[in-house]
Amino acid sequence: MPATPPPQTYRVKSFGCQMNVYDGERMAELLGAQGLTAADEGAEADLVVLNTCHIREKAAEKVYSDIGRLRREDGSSPLIAVAGCVAQAEGEEIMARAPAVRMVVGPQAYHRLPEMLRAAQDGRRVTDTDMPAETKFAALPQRRRSGASAFLTVQEGCDKFCTYCVVPYTRGAETSRPFADLIAEAERLAEAGALEITLLGQNVNAWTGEDAKGRAIGLDGLIRALAALPALRRIRYTTSHPNDMTQGLIAAHAEVDKLMPFLHLPVQAGSDRVLKAMNRSHTAESYLRLLDRVRAVRPDIALSGDFIVGFPGETEAEFAETLALVEATGYAQAFSFKYSPRPGTPAATMDGQVAPEVMDERLQRLQAALQRSSLAFNQASVGRTCEVLVERRGRREGQWLGKSPWLQSVHFANEPWGEARIGDLVRVTLVEAGPNSLHARLLAPVAA
Ligand code: SAH
Ligand code: SF4
Ligand code: F3S
Repeated sequence: MPATPPPQTYRVKSFGCQMNVYDGERMAELLGAQGLTAADEGAEADLVVLNTCHIREKAAEKVYSDIGRLRREDGSSPLIAVAGCVAQAEGEEIMARAPAVRMVVGPQAYHRLPEMLRAAQDGRRVTDTDMPAETKFAALPQRRRSGASAFLTVQEGCDKFCTYCVVPYTRGAETSRPFADLIAEAERLAEAGALEITLLGQNVNAWTGEDAKGRAIGLDGLIRALAALPALRRIRYTTSHPNDMTQGLIAAHAEVDKLMPFLHLPVQAGSDRVLKAMNRSHTAESYLRLLDRVRAVRPDIALSGDFIVGFPGETEAEFAETLALVEATGYAQAFSFKYSPRPGTPAATMDGQVAPEVMDERLQRLQAALQRSSLAFNQASVGRTCEVLVERRGRREGQWLGKSPWLQSVHFANEPWGEARIGDLVRVTLVEAGPNSLHARLLAPVAA
């Protein structure tokens, strides 16, 4: 590869989960600290970072079409770095298949991007998919900017090894970031304007640490400490695992006002045989009883989940158990996916792979049930008065979009007596519900 002049501009494109969005922000800050500036919308960047997701085949294949799209008419390309979970899982393959890629960097090694960039400028192609013991976070520049709603990764990796899932391989073992670092980062984010922080982890409720007095605490302890920061108004966390849902965390939903009444708790399937084959180590019944305990302390909690249809061997009767669980739970929202065999995972070579048409049909039925459930949840909230954090302008002039405490998308219009702004926390009454959003009436801005 020929040597290249130092890049002046960058673009980071993140795919996949919220943790990738967080990592993408941190990579952008790192490149900014190296003197690069973000490329303008529509303009070509000198350096493009594709921050990829490996969770399903479609997501993973996207990286190759994206690399193709970056090719210029004369056959050359900008400097391309592939980061994220595809980089971790298929680094060598990317280097072999896509000669335009100069850097491959895994999710635990991206703090080393500056050195890699220098090597790439010298004409080398470099891969770093180490999972170093020292944490990348210590090597990253401090947070300086934030929107009203910010992400904060507190826990990474997964030790659960569900038989369909690549995350334990792409993100490594479960680790928790130290309490003091998290409080410091949250303070910086709040100073930079964050009113809401969403704590992130592949199993966020597996977070453990020691508080300022050296006492062992879990995620609930961290949440309580964050709630004491006056500038922070809302706290959320995702994704939690049913097996790490402690009594302390459940109690926090009753006791910490700033902790929003929302719980994303994936269950994946409603059949105990399928759950066992998935290595989920919970049953449908234990999951439902857990939800009962959460509802007992926080009756208005909005529940969310993840579902996989067509896991190897799933019969029609077993799928019907997933539908029954959806009916029994009354989800406010949920994500559902067709099973995608992932290389290297145990499920990929299991007998009884389900035909694509069968998966399509099951997914449609599941999504219809989940839509009915969301509509019912939203309809039941009509008439409630609540706070909405304004995120962006709506399609119509004077219209705004934001999130309710229950993470519903809420739109409302300015009133003759007052206008909302992005980043405001406003008080509204919910007046009309659809399956994906609600319409509200603006009551008053909420005083800081
Ligand atoms: N740690 C979280 C979720 C991580 S991945 C948890 O365990 O709950 C997000 C979701 O992607 C999973 O909950 C699952 O529903 C889905 N998923 C993971 N692997 C998949 C696969 N091979 N095929 C289809 N969906 C998958
Ligand atoms: Fe994947 Fe299971 Fe870990 Fe979630 S708990 S990241 S689904 S292995
Ligand atoms: Fe995808 Fe990696 Fe997140 S595989 S879902 S980007 S942890």
